[in-house]
Amino acid sequence: MAIRICDLHKSFGSKVVLDGFSVEAREGETLVILGGSGSGKSVALKHVVGLLTPDSGQVEVDGEGVSELGREALYRLRRKVGYVFQFAALFDSMTLADNVAMGLRRQSNLTGEDIEERVAECLRLVDLDGYGPRSPAELSGGQRKRAGIARAIATRPQYLLYDEPTTGLDPVTRAMIDGLILRMSSELGVTGIVITHDMDSAFRVADRFAMLYDGRCRFSGTPDEIRETDDPVVRGFIEGRPELMESEK
Ligand SMILES: Nc1ncnc2c1ncn2[C@@H]1O[C@H](COP(=O)(O)OP(=O)(O)OP(=O)(O)O)[C@@H](O)[C@H]1O
Ligand SMILES: [Mg+2]
Repeated sequence: MAIRICDLHKSFGSKVVLDGFSVEAREGETLVILGGSGSGKSVALKHVVGLLTPDSGQVEVDGEGVSELGREALYRLRRKVGYVFQFAALFDSMTLADNVAMGLRRQSNLTGEDIEERVAECLRLVDLDGYGPRSPAELSGGQRKRAGIARAIATRPQYLLYDEPTTGLDPVTRAMIDGLILRMSSELGVTGIVITHDMDSAFRVADRFAMLYDGRCRFSGTPDEIRETDDPVVRGFIEGRPELMESEK
């Protein structure tokens, strides 16, 4: 029930993005991955559901090597893993309700009525009550973000990957989304990975932290450990003090 990223290497052309990145989200915990813009956080996350294939190394979910899975097994995996995409990735040609229902329609044990109820419940959880019939194109950035979260949680997945779930949201909505992440973990036992730059949010939801830097895991530890670390790169990042990070170069 864990997600294990092991010695992941990934380059695009001559650009090395991941250079031996390893990190683990243990069963039931929420792991927050920190790292500068362009450091490869989204790239790493996409490997977890097989949207990208590693050059070498691997990701294991539930003990299964993701890049070795055949088509069917990969679909099964994706049903277990909810993904909140950084840029929402909603289909504008469908209503919001249909976007949220997408994963549910593949679950043959649910009736049309069940699906409708589940969609309404998930929209309510992200404070988008009554927005089901709208087109995603009519929504604000923050509303789209929340709709992406509703879609990811609709199938009640065992794993949730959140790529900057609170970016662009106001402080009250951010706290609400953090509350939702915490509930997914405490009530449903979800194992989660959260990518965020929002340190308030990070400290609210994290059981453990990892920092991606120069393609590798620079730090891994508890919230208390990251608060006390004397690594200038990590400190510089969480305190927003680039001069500390510069001294390391
Ligand atoms: N499909 C792709 N083809 C080529 N290069 C890519 C691709 N996806 C990502 N990259 C490059 O990989 C690097 C890491 O990108 P990534 O999206 O993972 O950054 P990030 O850490 O998520 O940053 P941000 O915080 O800005 O979202 C960037 O230099 C990006 O240009
Ligand atoms: Mg990203």
